[in-house]
Amino acid sequence: MTQYLADPSAATAPESPGTPGRPGWWRDAVIYQVYPRSFADGNGDGMGDLQGVRARLPHLKALGVDAVWLSPFYASPQADAGYDVADYRAIDPMFGTLHDADAVIRDAHELGLRIIVDLVPNHCSDQHLWFRKALAEGPGSPLRARFHFRPGQGPDGELPPNDWESIFGGPAWTRTENPDGTPGEWYLHLFAAEQPDFNWDHPAVRDEFRSVLRFWLDLGVDGFRIDVAHGLVKAAGLPDLGRAGQLKLLGNDVLPFFDQDGVHAIYRSWRTVLEEYPGERIGVAEAWTPTTERTARYVRPDELHQAFNFHFLGAEWDAERLREVIDDSLDAMRPVGAPTTWVLSNHDVVRHTTRYADGDPARGLRRARAATLLMLALPGSAYLYQGEELGLPEVTDLPDGARQDPAFFRTSADGQTGQDGLRDGCRVPIPWAGTEAPYGFGPRAGGPSWLPQPESWAGLSVEAQTGRPGSTLELYREALTVRRAHPALGAGESVEWLAAPDGVLAFRRRAGGDGPDFVCTVNTTGEPVALAAPGRALLVSDGELPRGEGEVTQAPDTAVWWAV
Ligand code: GLC
Repeated sequence: MTQYLADPSAATAPESPGTPGRPGWWRDAVIYQVYPRSFADGNGDGMGDLQGVRARLPHLKALGVDAVWLSPFYASPQADAGYDVADYRAIDPMFGTLHDADAVIRDAHELGLRIIVDLVPNHCSDQHLWFRKALAEGPGSPLRARFHFRPGQGPDGELPPNDWESIFGGPAWTRTENPDGTPGEWYLHLFAAEQPDFNWDHPAVRDEFRSVLRFWLDLGVDGFRIDVAHGLVKAAGLPDLGRAGQLKLLGNDVLPFFDQDGVHAIYRSWRTVLEEYPGERIGVAEAWTPTTERTARYVRPDELHQAFNFHFLGAEWDAERLREVIDDSLDAMRPVGAPTTWVLSNHDVVRHTTRYADGDPARGLRRARAATLLMLALPGSAYLYQGEELGLPEVTDLPDGARQDPAFFRTSADGQTGQDGLRDGCRVPIPWAGTEAPYGFGPRAGGPSWLPQPESWAGLSVEAQTGRPGSTLELYREALTVRRAHPALGAGESVEWLAAPDGVLAFRRRAGGDGPDFVCTVNTTGEPVALAAPGRALLVSDGELPRGEGEVTQAPDTAVWWAV
């Protein structure tokens, strides 16, 4: 069993941050999401790969993160950028080989970085062996019971079995053709048609995934990010939703195919598998639920370790709203003893630099940097998405011909393109160095990249920002250094709110014992505010340390870290 720390602040003990074997390492870990297609291209074909990841691990070490989460690199026809898995135990040749995956895990461990892999259990690819056989064998095949095959409604079965819609737009059902060429049963896919949902009531599905967990645990991974963790179990009888309307990725609705109570037995059984391995291997739920209390159910002591907190990601840049979400998130996790997680960007949402811009990119970057200092000052674990440490904006002018997101191509009933459909804009390959595209993403200047990069990204590359005072990259590095060293930062259960002017957030974190306390102040307004300095300024999101003692002025859209 995982040892729960009696005193959560012990998890921030500065002697051994991030070292393998540190108990409760995941309670305050900073976890960096690598989206392999777009991180680094080792072989020059324009697509990121595992060799590229391996070569760039030192960047992540220098950045100061504890762990790396790799989005899927499994064998896949790439109908949904690898979230359509054809073989859960094989690497797609476009990313490399199992040998490369093994090398990434080993090298990361040598650097003191942990590796979390993405597991996609809600659905597979329509090219998965089980599904291909289920189709080929026709109605009545026992393999069909591992998916949701149903006859259609209407005289000739020409209507889908129920009214559920795909998250990517259009019906959540696709009609099959029988082996003799006649129209056949329908199958359920909450996402693209190439992503049939598994039937998790079937014991073979449960056995298979426990075996897949062990396969990767045996290779040495430190945990799993569990894709659509709230979707595995569907309400009995697959009842109609009773209303039309496009469902949202990362939505909060109560639905018959999400967040059913039955999912928790699955995670309890996975926890026992994780516990068979030394070193606290973890499970992280991607669970979109209606409330933070529902999210907390995924991280009860005998289930998973963490769940993403999309309520924080969804909050607008407003002091009151942020404070509400922070309190609500901490309150929800406290009773189950799990750390809260914080995330601002990932491969499914518009980058936060652009989300916060309100039409002014400079303002967006200012707020994004402040939001990062806010996030890293909060108790719990934080997730970073590749490129945010460079302050990359969303690319909003990709030519349609370059896009690959299936949500862009699936058309909803009203003839509009599927909701979302913008996910390619946060997936543009990141710039590393040089003045010519692909800016070090691939080995050769002038070489290919699977999505075009804006010219302005030359100035945002890792090389361009390294050592440049005030750069976003240096801000992230400093913040992660301070976070690691300061005894009041890292794990914890609450923050102490301090009185502050309107539009300003101010909170204290206590180190306990003789350790120094810590205060974070965030000015979310567009105006400078006068504040009584709570201590000595350690770090400021815009790089300008407020001068003087006593009353200081904090610039608009900035966060300040104070040693108290
Ligand atoms: C998750 C992934 C997203 C994917 C979907 C279907 O939400 O983050 O990228 O499209 O699941 O697997």
